[in-house]
Amino acid sequence: MSNPSGSGSGSWYETLTSTPVLIATAVGVSFAAIFAASSSGKTPEQIKTQAKEVKNVATSSTDAKGKAAQAGASIMSAPAADLAPPKDDPISASTLSQYDGSDPSKPIYVAIKGRVFDVTAKPEMYGKGKGYNIFAGKDASKGLGMSSLNLEDAVSDYSSLNETQMNSLNQWESFFEKRYNIVGKVVQ
Ligand code: HEM
Repeated sequence: MSNPSGSGSGSWYETLTSTPVLIATAVGVSFAAIFAASSSGKTPEQIKTQAKEVKNVATSSTDAKGKAAQAGASIMSAPAADLAPPKDDPISASTLSQYDGSDPSKPIYVAIKGRVFDVTAKPEMYGKGKGYNIFAGKDASKGLGMSSLNLEDAVSDYSSLNETQMNSLNQWESFFEKRYNIVGKVVQ
């Protein structure tokens, strides 16, 4: 799924249209920037920077479009202020797979480099049928590094990543560390 009207779920579009910064005519401008950044393998930091640059251009005008962009926050969700101390509990890959969002009564987990993050707070992203569900219930480090939403890339072995992709993976790791509790580590 690489565009909002593409196959699969419509969660891209839902996410974008529910994000305050992307209102009014700013939608077209910001979306184009993010789309270009994501599809060219940019890291989350770069995507954010690029989105901000677009926002700054928009805010430099005094018309309604500029004010609309000004009212919005960063395109990415804010870091969490109240994270619990990270846990080191062993979690097997098969246990992890039960936390893939298919049962709404269970937590949703995403693992990066073997550390398991609790993303239950974001069912609209990681829940069943949602845009980032391919990362749920597994360690999908390689896919994150590749900026890939392909199922076959959503695996734990990231040894094939090049330097740019490793940077991307590391930035996603840092993004998750700031937002989600670590509930354990993946064991064989
Ligand atoms: C069409 C291209 C894309 C668009 C428009 C897009 C848009 C977005 C937006 C708006 C957010 C912020 C959501 C929020 O914080 O509430 C987000 C988060 C995210 N995106 Fe994308 N994205 C795109 C491509 C990708 C790709 C290719 C990947 C594969 C790695 C990806 C992975 C993620 C992840 C992991 C998050 C964090 C979700 C979270 O836990 O908050 N995105 N995306």
